[in-house]
Amino acid sequence: MRPLEGRRALVTGAAGGLGRAITAALAAQGAQVMMSDLVVAEAFEADRRALEASTGGRIAYRHADLANAADITTLMQSAGAVDILVNNAVTRHFGLVETLHPSEWDADIAVNLTACFHTIRHALPGMKQRDWGRIINVSSIYGLIGGTERAGYVTTKHALIGLTKAVALECAQTPVTCNALCPGSTYTPAIADRIEAQVKRGPDAREVVLEKFWAERQPTRRFIEPEKVAALAAFLCGPAGDDITGAALPMDGAWSAM
Ligand SMILES: NC(=O)c1ccc[n+]([C@@H]2O[C@H](COP(=O)([O-])OP(=O)(O)OC[C@H]3O[C@@H](n4cnc5c(N)ncnc54)[C@H](O)[C@@H]3O)[C@@H](O)[C@H]2O)c1
Repeated sequence: MRPLEGRRALVTGAAGGLGRAITAALAAQGAQVMMSDLVVAEAFEADRRALEASTGGRIAYRHADLANAADITTLMQSAGAVDILVNNAVTRHFGLVETLHPSEWDADIAVNLTACFHTIRHALPGMKQRDWGRIINVSSIYGLIGGTERAGYVTTKHALIGLTKAVALECAQTPVTCNALCPGSTYTPAIADRIEAQVKRGPDAREVVLEKFWAERQPTRRFIEPEKVAALAAFLCGPAGDDITGAALPMDGAWSAM
């Protein structure tokens, strides 16, 4: 029997990047996973099937706009009993704080923070009732340190760690844990696209772009692999995770050690 057999998981923002890797890791361990994202279900069907085939798991997909509270309620109703909740969806808006449009700030707060509050408040009563639960909030290195030209991201990722601690303390005498993952630069399409765009804009060659990228980031000077972050999420769902709660766990190649 696989370790997460009989558990049901919900992963938000799961169509690509880390969410997809976490879905695959949980499904491969036997969890029944519902993925959710902005892509319409029909457009995601081939991907969903491919993921089922590669993991040998059971995976469902549902479209939901997490900026919309009504969509979240519908998503949580259709997900049913959620034992493992992974709040992974994200919006990112770049620019100096005075140039960020208020609608960009609002979107970051809605998706990166408020949506997590809603999914947790919907999922938690059932977890407590069934005497087991794992809440994993995907924060970031930018939840632990500051950074320029991404005030909405930095603010929400810090706040998500605050929410994680509050929930963990409220659940401390129950078998429900709540933790935040704080990855450094992870090679997902979102990051790859930004680097490729910079190379295209010129004048620097890819090696120079990467050199400048690493100069202000993780000392290991290599990307984190999404599968490794996913493995950490799966580890938290195993028995060794029983007493890990309220933690903000870096996987950042020593970036936060600087
Ligand atoms: N990639 C990195 O280097 C890195 C580093 C640290 C933390 N993280 C965190 O990991 C998580 C995943 O990152 P990623 O790089 O895979 O991101 P990504 O952009 O590839 O995936 C995020 C997903 O969220 C979805 N999303 C955005 N707005 C939404 C909305 N309103 N409703 C529903 N879904 C919505 C997007 O469609 C997308 O599929 C994020 O929380 C991010 O902050 C990533």
